Amino acid sequence: MSGKLISDGPIGIFDSGVGGLSVFKAIIDLLPNENFLYFADQKNVPYGNRPLEEIQLFSEKITEYFISQGAKLVVVACNTASAVALYYLRDKFPDIPLVGMEPAVKPAAETTESGRVGVLATQATFQGDLYSSLVERFAQEVKLIQDPCIGLVGEIEKGNFSGNETRLILENALKPMMEFGIDTIVLGCTHYPFVFPMIKEIVGKDIRLIDPAPAIARQVQTVLVEKSIQNTSHLDGKSKFITTGDKQKFTDFLFKNGFNQEA
Ligand code: DGL
Repeated sequence: MSGKLISDGPIGIFDSGVGGLSVFKAIIDLLPNENFLYFADQKNVPYGNRPLEEIQLFSEKITEYFISQGAKLVVVACNTASAVALYYLRDKFPDIPLVGMEPAVKPAAETTESGRVGVLATQATFQGDLYSSLVERFAQEVKLIQDPCIGLVGEIEKGNFSGNETRLILENALKPMMEFGIDTIVLGCTHYPFVFPMIKEIVGKDIRLIDPAPAIARQVQTVLVEKSIQNTSHLDGKSKFITTGDKQKFTDFLFKNGFNQEA
């Protein structure tokens, strides 16, 4: 990449599918005057059980696309892609700022009272070095119980936030966590905030859920300020939604979930 980052260029946000919309929502709420390009790689969803090299390649192609569209910053709004490809992308694209996700193990470990924390994320996220390094650095004093919620990303992609299949996957993951005595759950996959109400229904009000999206939005703001690339326009920015999957289905999802725009 060459040339300067332009302050009215879009912020590129990507995920394997609809999950990153939970992050996009937090970012646009904080930075409404920015322009956005949201990219859902739905042809390849889920990423969570794919080989590392494949996820790196997908992430590289999407980042290249963003750069070709004049993006000034890229948000890897996917824990899985962040876990396996963030350093890879930083190496390949040193000139564009990249903001990634990580499961919020640190804040959970700092605030748990029972000393027991549940983490929901994909298999690839749990297997990546990023997760083991988070556990090693921040969770020595607490006990973690993990679950990859197999099949949940697929249900969320279908818009099934509260049906039987979704409930079953979540109950299987959450019941052992409750028996273990957790008081905090880390949502380590950006798809999972869509089933926040169902999780709450199962675990009750006393167990705290941590969604890192607001912290990521603040991080995006900090990077824009540091690099002096905030959009100074006082008008609301424009957002564009792209999918490698079925355009109509993605559009339907966007309208059903308050994004009110076509893909
Ligand atoms: N939303 C993703 C994450 O945060 C990926 C889910 C998937 O594609 O498996 O991990």
